[in-house]
Amino acid sequence: MDLSLSNKVYIVTGGAKGIGAAISKIIAAEKGIVVIAGRNKNDNQAMVDEIIKSGGKASCITAELGDPAACREVIEFTVEKYGQIDGLINNAGNNDGIGLEKGSPEKFFQSLQKNLSHYYNLAHYALPYLKKTKGNIVNIGSKVAVTGQGNTSGYAASKGAINALTREWAVELLPYSIRVNTVLPAEVWTPLYENWIKTLPNPKEKLAQIVSKIPFENRMTTSEEIANMTVFLLSERSSHTTGQIIFVDGGYSHLDRSL
Ligand SMILES: NC(=O)c1ccc[n+]([C@@H]2O[C@H](COP(=O)([O-])OP(=O)(O)OC[C@H]3O[C@@H](n4cnc5c(N)ncnc54)[C@H](O)[C@@H]3O)[C@@H](O)[C@H]2O)c1
Repeated sequence: MDLSLSNKVYIVTGGAKGIGAAISKIIAAEKGIVVIAGRNKNDNQAMVDEIIKSGGKASCITAELGDPAACREVIEFTVEKYGQIDGLINNAGNNDGIGLEKGSPEKFFQSLQKNLSHYYNLAHYALPYLKKTKGNIVNIGSKVAVTGQGNTSGYAASKGAINALTREWAVELLPYSIRVNTVLPAEVWTPLYENWIKTLPNPKEKLAQIVSKIPFENRMTTSEEIANMTVFLLSERSSHTTGQIIFVDGGYSHLDRSL
């Protein structure tokens, strides 16, 4: 199936690690041009080098995305370098454990800035360019938006808002033929997941318990499986799909609990 991404330009936030890295690599393999925006310069450059080595096209910009000015710079950098934006993949996020008890009003607000504000800010600054290309937006959400997790109010609030914004933006952007969708992972082995599970009392036992409850094949979702859905949604092959929140989670969030 030709996804027709050839020479189209896609911004992937947090595109150097975990799910974002898989998205960057699959876009590049489909001949799209990737712009990685993330906070770690060395990680970003390493991913760009890997993509270029495999014959793809990519560049990167270092950005702490909680800062609105950094979001504007990401868009300016992309447009100066490539002259267009065909897709925005809002992926960067961190389950930072700011809860009601282990938190404060300041930390809650900072968590929203780091996990949510850049989804809006990048979409806002990218919009004039997405209008020109009839590009589209894919957000990466989390099951925590619908299940809760405990002790992670900032992250959960951000992910809940991302689901709401998916519908809201899909409506607002109808006149421009810009589609907006969200891919929603549950359990994916990435650096973020590894750091999170290590914070629990018995990480190995907890991991085995979680995996045993994932209905489809009792295994975690891979980053590539999240990326495949993301890239399909970016492509013309999903040209009448908008405002959707798609769970790529092996049935973890919805199937019968007795399984
Ligand atoms: N791994 C999972 O099981 C899982 C489950 C549900 C949702 N998600 C979501 O998937 C997305 C990717 O998660 P992952 O597991 O690949 O994470 P990860 O930590 O492995 O990679 C995320 C990348 O984004 C960067 N980043 C994060 N916040 C940033 C910010 N504010 N500014 C700049 N860079 C930033 C990190 O430095 C890192 O390079 C996140 O939105 C996360 O909430 C992941």
